Amino acid sequence: MTRPTFLVQLTDLHIREPGRLAYGRIDTAPYLREAVASVLRLRQAPDAIVITGDLSDFGREAEYAHLAELLAPLGATPLYLLPGNHDERVQLRRSFPMHTYLGDGEFVQFNVAVGPLRLIALDTVTPGASHGSLCSRRLDWLARELEASRGQPVVIAMHHPPFRTLIGHMDDIGLLEGAAELEALVRQHPNVERVICGHLHRAIDVRFGGTVASTAPAPAHQVCLDLAPDAPSAWTLEPPGFRVHAWDGQRLVTHLAASGVFEGPYPFHDNGALID
Ligand SMILES: [Fe+2]
Ligand SMILES: [Fe+2]
Repeated sequence: MTRPTFLVQLTDLHIREPGRLAYGRIDTAPYLREAVASVLRLRQAPDAIVITGDLSDFGREAEYAHLAELLAPLGATPLYLLPGNHDERVQLRRSFPMHTYLGDGEFVQFNVAVGPLRLIALDTVTPGASHGSLCSRRLDWLARELEASRGQPVVIAMHHPPFRTLIGHMDDIGLLEGAAELEALVRQHPNVERVICGHLHRAIDVRFGGTVASTAPAPAHQVCLDLAPDAPSAWTLEPPGFRVHAWDGQRLVTHLAASGVFEGPYPFHDNGALID
């Protein structure tokens, strides 16, 4: 069997200027440093890394400069950045001029190859608002890219998930425009292996348009697991993590990886027998 293709997904980094705390309480930088170290410790080096938005906390130049410094240890691994509701498109492009795929159009959308996979990124940002939207211009672009990618395994990446999560305060700032149209489009393309999203700061999986849509945990703070419609908007320091999407030539196999250093590995067996 040929070696699988590994796409690592990080999301919702919320990097601030050095020394400044997010929400007056959390320094997100050391958490990203740990996530980057965890990615570098993976037994299988990723073929590419995608970060599905909320790269910074306020879209400021100093935040992106700090982010670039924190991501530098990833070296030459292809790295793809998507904006989230905490980002600022113009500043993002200005701060990452080498990232030419970010383009210069109205939206940050791109279609790149990761081995045999197509990674198609959608821009769900609504400037000045926390919720997401996919207008007809963005969806028309996707329709053309999906047409051009027929017969190839596709991963669609976007910040706001196109489904209800049952976390009320997050659904209030979810993808409020274009989710049904996106689902209809995805349904027409069974080669879409996954729709991968951020924004939720925790791992969620749903059936969507005949494929699987998912979100991923963040490297620092997670959104509280409270499925009451009126749940308070709050975060927690549950164990952080990221996703490893592996294409084996047949299927996309998605793992949830913990960020951090843990005990082990320890063997199950000794001299061919289970340790008693
Ligand atoms: Fe976020
Ligand atoms: Fe977000």
